[in-house]
Amino acid sequence: MDEIETPEPDKARSVPAEWWRSAVIYQIYPRSFADGNGDGIGDLAGVRARLGHLAGLGVDAIWFNPWYASPQADAGYDVADYRAIDPVFGTLTEAEDLIREAHALGIRIVVDVVPNHCSNAHPWFVEALHSGPGSAARDPFWFREGRGADGELPPNDWQSIFGGPAWTRTVNPDGRPGEWYLHLFAPEQPDLNWEHPKVREEFEDVLRFWLDRGVDGIRIDSAALLMKDGELADFDPDDLPVPHPYTDRDEVHDVYRAWRAIADSYPEPRALIGELWLPDAERLAAYLSPDELHTAFNFAFLGCPWDATALRQVIDETLALHAPVNAPATWVLSNHDVPRHVTRYGRADTSFTLQYRQLGAPTDRALGRRRARAALLLNLALPGSVYLYQGEELGLEEVEDIPAALRQDPMFFRTHGENLGRDGCRVPLPWSGQEPPFGFSPADAAREPWLPQPRGWRDHTVEAQTGDPDSMLELYRRALACRRGQSALGDGPFAWLPAPDGVLAFTRGSHRAFACVVNLSGRPIESPVAGTVVLGSGPLDEGWLPPDTAVWVVPG
Ligand code: GLC
Repeated sequence: MDEIETPEPDKARSVPAEWWRSAVIYQIYPRSFADGNGDGIGDLAGVRARLGHLAGLGVDAIWFNPWYASPQADAGYDVADYRAIDPVFGTLTEAEDLIREAHALGIRIVVDVVPNHCSNAHPWFVEALHSGPGSAARDPFWFREGRGADGELPPNDWQSIFGGPAWTRTVNPDGRPGEWYLHLFAPEQPDLNWEHPKVREEFEDVLRFWLDRGVDGIRIDSAALLMKDGELADFDPDDLPVPHPYTDRDEVHDVYRAWRAIADSYPEPRALIGELWLPDAERLAAYLSPDELHTAFNFAFLGCPWDATALRQVIDETLALHAPVNAPATWVLSNHDVPRHVTRYGRADTSFTLQYRQLGAPTDRALGRRRARAALLLNLALPGSVYLYQGEELGLEEVEDIPAALRQDPMFFRTHGENLGRDGCRVPLPWSGQEPPFGFSPADAAREPWLPQPRGWRDHTVEAQTGDPDSMLELYRRALACRRGQSALGDGPFAWLPAPDGVLAFTRGSHRAFACVVNLSGRPIESPVAGTVVLGSGPLDEGWLPPDTAVWVVPG
């Protein structure tokens, strides 16, 4: 089948009410974006001072990784107070100012809500420990007696997603060993019991708290994990039971139907965005029903190798999955959990899965960079919304040589270094200058950046790339500006065009006003679309499209 027509959207990107159908959303990892107060950790003051960079880049929205009060055991995904900003980042007043300032620039705000677990410093968990076994204060969590003669073994064989057992034993108020509690991630992240009404009420209130402050969307962390099978039985990971004991259980849909009703109760629609790592397309689509979430991250696309057949298949599957529920697709290549795609695309194997991170594999940087440039034009031309992860506009690579003593990711420690973890994509951004901290922190900063920046990043700073027509940053700026000016891009009709093997070619818009061609064939090709090239990811060779190059064409 050469052509797939997606339905004409009800609302085009010019209708702001459904901004999330077409938006380019820039992900800010607050620890690493910009440090305003010189403590080596990014903060809201730093973001506010750099909003101009994002407006100039041309993004439509910002998603913030968690900025809440937290002991930072998992970089803020261990939340102690969902209604307060962590002092390391700033204050609630600053967050409110930031939301206002971004809105004034036409940029929407998405915050990250973490419902599966809280921090072990959250007052509920502190009280649960303090109150001891059998107390009602333990009910919002998963406390259980251990197995073995003295309860010295975990209640079941579940493993933490970060490595090691998913249970930690507590000490009773009298000092004796006590019950165990469940944590699918680090021990500092106790899982909440979503069968408890108090948990539901609390999160509905947290949603309203942020929506009342004007945020335009909520990114839902670990969205498929909330409900657990209360049997808490052992299972074999190589022969998974159906339904799974804690992933994608049907009961979780009730939670999101209630959240959708809250989002819909605001005059301007607010978007709910799911972090759902689910292999089954139909199960994933169920979360995108009109009464649940608005969009979900496209992890199948993120993990897809740089290969025309594989990409075409993922694109087709993505569109087929979203069309029946009338949800917009999303396109994403990097985030704070995965190795940066400039690096991935320079490897012999360009695929990614959560279990297969390939850190340290040999990398051809020039190749990765060329492909990442082409991938940008592909992403921005596909129908739906696009996520960009901070630093990809600078072409930052994965930093793979961070010394063990400086690493911070619990994944690294809980796997005893076997998994290098995610620090390599979280290194603070380079803004200007010749030496670290490259403008990330003020010149008189008291501390160095919380992760070391490679010296070679002097060539990657915003300052160094600005005005250089061949730089990654200028390509991003041109591409985003061009996308804004093309009404055929964002949400809307899509159709494949006939193309040689190894080449992706498609048109956009109901009148096929726009085309994109990506050459993954490994040899130069003549473009299968005649017309005016409005943007290329690299130079053309006397009209021929070199390998790993993409062009945007106005046919004619
Ligand atoms: C999500 C986040 C990740 C975090 C985990 C636990 O997968 O993206 O960074 O460690 O949830 O909250």
